[in-house]
Amino acid sequence: MDVIAPHVAADPAAAAAQRFAAIVRLAAADMARVDALIRHELRSDVVLINQIGDHIVGAGGKRLRPLLVLLSARTNVEEPQTGAIALAAIIEFIHTATLLHDDVVDESGLRRGRQTANALWGNAASVLVGDFLYSRAFQMMVGLDRMTIMRVLADTTNAIAEGEVLQLLHMGDPDLTEARYFEVIRRKTAILFAAACRLGGLVAGLDDSRQDALHRYGMALGIAFQIADDVLDYVGDAAAIGKNLGDDLAEGKTTLPLIIAQRRAGTAQVEVLRSAIRKGDRSALPAVIAAIRDTDALEGAIAQAREHAAAARRELQSLSSSVWRNALADLADYSVQRFL
Ligand code: IPE
Ligand code: IPE
Ligand code: MG
Ligand code: MG
Repeated sequence: MDVIAPHVAADPAAAAAQRFAAIVRLAAADMARVDALIRHELRSDVVLINQIGDHIVGAGGKRLRPLLVLLSARTNVEEPQTGAIALAAIIEFIHTATLLHDDVVDESGLRRGRQTANALWGNAASVLVGDFLYSRAFQMMVGLDRMTIMRVLADTTNAIAEGEVLQLLHMGDPDLTEARYFEVIRRKTAILFAAACRLGGLVAGLDDSRQDALHRYGMALGIAFQIADDVLDYVGDAAAIGKNLGDDLAEGKTTLPLIIAQRRAGTAQVEVLRSAIRKGDRSALPAVIAAIRDTDALEGAIAQAREHAAAARRELQSLSSSVWRNALADLADYSVQRFL
């Protein structure tokens, strides 16, 4: 079986979407079990938890992180492994909790094509239901009764919180360095991808060195994915990504496109960029996009995303060849090509 769909699509984004759909089909049976578990574990006798939980989970999302668990958990074995389904659900719960919190911090109004929970129910409800999802994930984790899994996920969620706080410290700071930017995205995003892959490998019975390789694959993939997300915030199609454009600028968030644009722009445009970041000025979006275009900053950011995606692919070499490994390799391409 070949997971790579025939390339009838001429445009790369459509081809990436086809490949992604093929990967999703490959894992569909396992993912249906993950979905059932997620819905089961969302239940609470507190009505507001059900409402907000159904609102954000019902909107779907790409389910990329559970997919990484499921694919990694098959790299060594034919049958789905005990714990893989629960782990995939746990990781999606952690991710969903961070989204609820993130949309409060970022004051975002649209998520997964729907109004955000904070827009509909307010900040307090969103934060508290995020806490419910976090703690439910930990309850499920304890049910797996494996100290290594608990350690990895405790360390991971702690690092995510550090990443978000680190980012908060740099709100409105046009001088955020590229090194610091990478530090933030490693913690807030990539580390969860890495944990998903490592733990998939762990339940599949891979040895430590292959688990480490999957961890490095996940880190590199997560970095590529977040760079792509940061590019999409300027040039994406809001309907396709289900989020409003310009949220990063409105928050005064200095992302890679803005770092590169500042480095390459002339004095006048640099001042436009710095002032927009300092003020978190959404109305400056057209001028900022113009500066980004004039300096080819998006291409610069995409080139870096590609390098990380290529590094991710290379980490898979130590795994034995299978459709599952190929699917992981395709996901690395997808993480960058989804926005071309
Ligand atoms: C959004 O993640 C947060 C980032 C790390 C950029 P996704 O783009 O995976 O969100 P969903 O789950 O598909 O909605
Ligand atoms: C990712 O950063 C946030 C988390 C890892 C929770 P963003 O703020 O860019 O994510 P989106 O764009 O809101 O999905
Ligand atoms: Mg956000
Ligand atoms: Mg974003």
